[in-house]
This record gives sequence, C-alpha cells and structure tokens, in this order.
Amino acid sequence: MQSNDRGRPLRVGVAGLGRLGRRHAQNLAYRVPGATLAAACSPLEDDLTWARTALPATRLYSDYAQLLADDSLDAVWLVTPSALHAQQIVEALRAGKHVFCEKPLSLDVAECERVVEESRRFSGQQVTIGFMRRFDPSYHDAFDKLRAGAIGRPFLVRSQTCDLNDPDGFFVRFSAGSGGIFLDCTVHDIDVARWLLGKPRATRVYAAGAVALHEGLREFGDVDNGVAICEFEGGKLAMFYASRTMAHGNDTSSEVIGTAGALAIGRVPRTNRVEIYDAHGARSECTPTFFERFEDAFLIEAQAFVAAVRARLNGTALGATTDAGQGATLEDALEATRIGDALRRSLQTGQAVTL
Ligand SMILES: NC(=O)c1ccc[n+]([C@@H]2O[C@H](COP(=O)([O-])OP(=O)(O)OC[C@H]3O[C@@H](n4cnc5c(N)ncnc54)[C@H](O)[C@@H]3O)[C@@H](O)[C@H]2O)c1
Repeated sequence: MQSNDRGRPLRVGVAGLGRLGRRHAQNLAYRVPGATLAAACSPLEDDLTWARTALPATRLYSDYAQLLADDSLDAVWLVTPSALHAQQIVEALRAGKHVFCEKPLSLDVAECERVVEESRRFSGQQVTIGFMRRFDPSYHDAFDKLRAGAIGRPFLVRSQTCDLNDPDGFFVRFSAGSGGIFLDCTVHDIDVARWLLGKPRATRVYAAGAVALHEGLREFGDVDNGVAICEFEGGKLAMFYASRTMAHGNDTSSEVIGTAGALAIGRVPRTNRVEIYDAHGARSECTPTFFERFEDAFLIEAQAFVAAVRARLNGTALGATTDAGQGATLEDALEATRIGDALRRSLQTGQAVTL
C-alpha cells in the first residue's frame, strides 16, 4: 500500500473455499470494515461456482500461484488443507503478502520451524495463525480477569473440543489429511492452555484414545475420543479431551484453576438463553457445530487481522492492545504443533513423551 493509498480498504484474497473457507470469504466480503474481498481461489469447480453467486465481484482463480501473482492483493487468507499451510505461507511471504492462515501451522514440527525461520526475513509482513478462541468474547474476558488477578496464580487448565457425531463418517475421510484428533482438535486447547497460563514451555505429555464409533479411523492411526495430560515448566498442568462422537452437539469448553479460584468458559454448551421445561426435564438446546459456537470469534479475528495490517501499512500504532487482542504468532503455532505431535506419538506408542 503506497502512502497515497492510505485509507483505502485492505485487498484480501482467500485460498480454499471449502467448509470453513466459505465462511471466512463471506465475513471478509460483507462484515469486516476496512477490507475488500478482491479475489478467491480453489482448484474445485464446485467451489468457484459457489463463489460466482455467493461473493461480490471477486476475481476467481483455480491455482494458488495465480492468486499470489495478483499484484493488487495486500494479504492472503489461507483456509486450505492443513498439510499445505507451511509451504503456502512461505510462498505468500515471498510474494510480498501479509498472511492469515487457519490452524494448524503444519502437521510437522520441522516444517513449522522452517516457516518460523523463513518469516524472519519478512518482519514487515503480518502473519497470524487462526486460533480463533483467543477472540471469543468469553475467552477474552477470562483472559482479562486472569491478568487482573481474579483467581490468584493460574496453574491448571482443563479444556475440551468435542464435535457432534457425524454418522456419514466425514471425520473418517478428513482424518487422512487432518493430522489426527490431537493436531486437528486438541491443538486449539493446547493454544488456549499456553495462552491462559502465560505461554509456559511443555516438558512432558501423555495421551490415550478410544475408537467408540468410527472403526475406519484405525486405518489412519486415529481415534474418535482422545484424552491427554501435558506438564509445563514451573509446575503448570493441562488436561485435554477431544471427541468426534457427541450426541448433543458441539461441546467446547475450558476451565482455568488458580490459587484463589477458577474460571469456567462455556461449560454448558447452550445455543442461546432459552430453557425448555417439559416431560423430559429442564434443558437448553446445544450449539450444533463449532461455527455457531465461534461465529463471533471468527469475525472478530478477521477484524483484528485487518486492523493490525492496516495500522502497520499506515505506520500508525493500534490502540491499547493486550495479548488478548492479538492472534497467535508463528512461534505460538509452532509450540501448539510441537505438543500436538508429541500427543500423537504418545497415543501411538503408549508411552509418555518428554519434550
Ligand atoms: N479454526 C477452526 O476451528 C477450524 C475449523 C475447521 C477447519 N479449520 C481449518 O481450516 C482448514 C480447511 O478446513 P476445511 O474444513 O474448510 O477443509 P475443506 O476440505 O472443506 O476445504 C479445503 C479447501 O481448500 C481447497 N484447496 C485444496 N488445495 C488447494 C490449493 N492448492 N490452493 C487453494 N485451495 C486449495 C479445496 O478445494 C477446498 O476448497 C484446515 O486447515 C482446518 O484445520 C479450522
């Protein structure tokens, strides 16, 4: 962005128009002040057909290289399969773009390290990894309360990511490229735990799992329910649970325990504040998927990224920001993959893994 361009919207190109990419594209097109969705890219004709009707005048490409060659773009927004993220981030940085990339950074620790190393050459460009829970208003409030000393010294996080069972076996097909339950789901809880506990270094992990419903996962060395313990330096701890088989909906929650109290975030996964009282008892309906639960978080995350890049380009400082207002860095995402990968190895070997 040239100095005479100050004030014009940030031009963003989305790569990947699948399950989540379509949501990000619509947010950027219609709901993020200061941004224009200028281009989108997917190798699938179905995705491009959807984009022609669902998105405003947006240039469409079938090849990521074409998106990067679009000189009008300031930033790319990667919502592509996890195994592609690392290489696509590096290529985007080399093409001079700011980068937002969905989690996880990579399924491979060495690849994460390579991106962190390479990104040092591009310190003028923003790179944020999409751990959107940091932008959920309830998680954000808990973070602020922690920093204000509301529960004394926090030392333990319990966190879970549990999805509605899909009898059609979406998660089984997805498993081949997702990295398995710990790198796909628990990676969010790992990031939350590190963020809430002050980014401690992990020292040892242990994981176990079960195949409760989806036998097809065994072929990928994956499970549909996983539990894990993570020890951090300084005596801090985290306990994780992930499931693909919930009967009631998406049940994602976290709890942080301190020396003078505890904070629970989203313990009852209710979709709204209506309670039903009838012959079956008293109950609330559950959030169906992660997207309804974190719809606001995805939007606030996008707004924060756009504001951060525009502030960078205009040479203006953002207003008072705390860690709570910022997304995960490449270094944060590297640590999340390091721990998630160790959990995967622990599941496979049945042994604790020392980091
Ligand atoms: N933050 C979250 O809670 C959350 C939730 C779901 C998915 N995700 C992440 O989002 C990413 C995408 O997940 P999804 O569920 O949307 O997957 P998906 O398979 O539905 O969509 C992937 C899209 O990428 C496209 N694609 C494949 N190769 C490409 C390439 N070389 N260039 C451009 N596009 C390409 C595919 O055509 C498809 O449109 C994954 O990394 C996943 O971990 C994050």
